[in-house]
Amino acid sequence: MKTLFTHIKGLVQVREETSTWLAGEAMSQLPVLENAWLLIENDKILDYGSMPNLPDKTWDEQINLSGQFVLPAWVDSHTHLVYAGNREQEFIDRIKGLTYEEIAAKGGGIVNSAKNLQTTPEDELYIQAANRLEQVMQMGTGAIEIKSGYGLTLEAELKMLSVIKKLRQQYDLPIKATFLGAHAVPPEYKNNQKAYVDHLINEMLPAVAEQGIADYVDVFCEKNYFSVAETERIIEAAQQYGLPAKIHVNQFYAIGGIAASVKHNARSVDHLEVLTDTDLKALQHTQTMPVALPSCSFFIDIPYTPARKIIDAGLPLAIATDYNPGTTPNGNMNFCLSLACIKMKMTPEEAINAATLNAAYALDLLDTHGSITPGKQANLLITEKIPSYGFLPYSFGQNHIEQVYINGKRL
Ligand code: NIG
Ligand code: FE
Repeated sequence: MKTLFTHIKGLVQVREETSTWLAGEAMSQLPVLENAWLLIENDKILDYGSMPNLPDKTWDEQINLSGQFVLPAWVDSHTHLVYAGNREQEFIDRIKGLTYEEIAAKGGGIVNSAKNLQTTPEDELYIQAANRLEQVMQMGTGAIEIKSGYGLTLEAELKMLSVIKKLRQQYDLPIKATFLGAHAVPPEYKNNQKAYVDHLINEMLPAVAEQGIADYVDVFCEKNYFSVAETERIIEAAQQYGLPAKIHVNQFYAIGGIAASVKHNARSVDHLEVLTDTDLKALQHTQTMPVALPSCSFFIDIPYTPARKIIDAGLPLAIATDYNPGTTPNGNMNFCLSLACIKMKMTPEEAINAATLNAAYALDLLDTHGSITPGKQANLLITEKIPSYGFLPYSFGQNHIEQVYINGKRL
């Protein structure tokens, strides 16, 4: 089955090949072909060009997209979208002045979600997660990462990863699974954190690895959560099972987790709302992608990741939603792009590169996703008639995505 899209106002992020991430100055370059055609065959992108040079080929279906833009679907490289129930009470507590840390200290936060998830049957958890996934796909997400970390017992962590596995079987977009057993210390281990880390390394990790249901390991490396030394122990243990790291770090305090993560060649370091010059330096000449989560900053009202500082230092940057019940009950990548531009002073070109190509790098999907490149998967988003691609982040909070294609099939 071949489909030809014609008269595309702008075919965005067209690249003949994508060998690596975009860093520094290169992030401001967004290749766009105006008045273009795009040919897809079955699940893949076959070819593209400009309208005056329509190919001498045949196709089964032709779709006119005059006035519309076509982009690679968003890649959301950091979510926690498998969770049980919401935390609106904490939302109100925060409105009344409590901080995220104060709420966690009085038993709210991650352990609150874990208590809820542990008693939720897997089928129910699946239904909630599938609903969220379908919603974000409609908003243009065409590849996603989902973490465990609201189980905090072997059984409940495996339940979460099993839900992610079922989502992967049911939906066509790539779904990467991350084991985040070290998201918070469960109350049973409150006075013996070392015993929990030992349990995680000696029992949980081997069970997860044996089932082959995780692609990465993650740790919430933060004051009052897991120390740098514990983070390193967990990263090293996971490496024995071939699981690279993606680390929650520098959300509230800079405690040295970035240097530790890059030392172990973490695939990404995520959050970075607090970033020292030492952290910035540690990121230089590494293969670790910094990932900003602007809708988390928005929702819990904390500083935004200093994108300018990162990009102007010649580094790459990706953006992701962090969809979760505590700090970001929203998986809308379009809103993240708006925040990246409005609050982090990224240009629309930088934000789009951060949400497509660089995000694909953060999920080891650069060979197959994140750009309009012949041979890659046809995971595309098609806008309504809009004046420019910059209109997407500009008109914040509105949805201008008319169609989404996953593996060449329209949703
Ligand atoms: O990425 N910071 C750690 N983990 C999540 C929040 C988890 C929660 O509050 O439920 C985050 O923001
Ligand atoms: Fe997160």
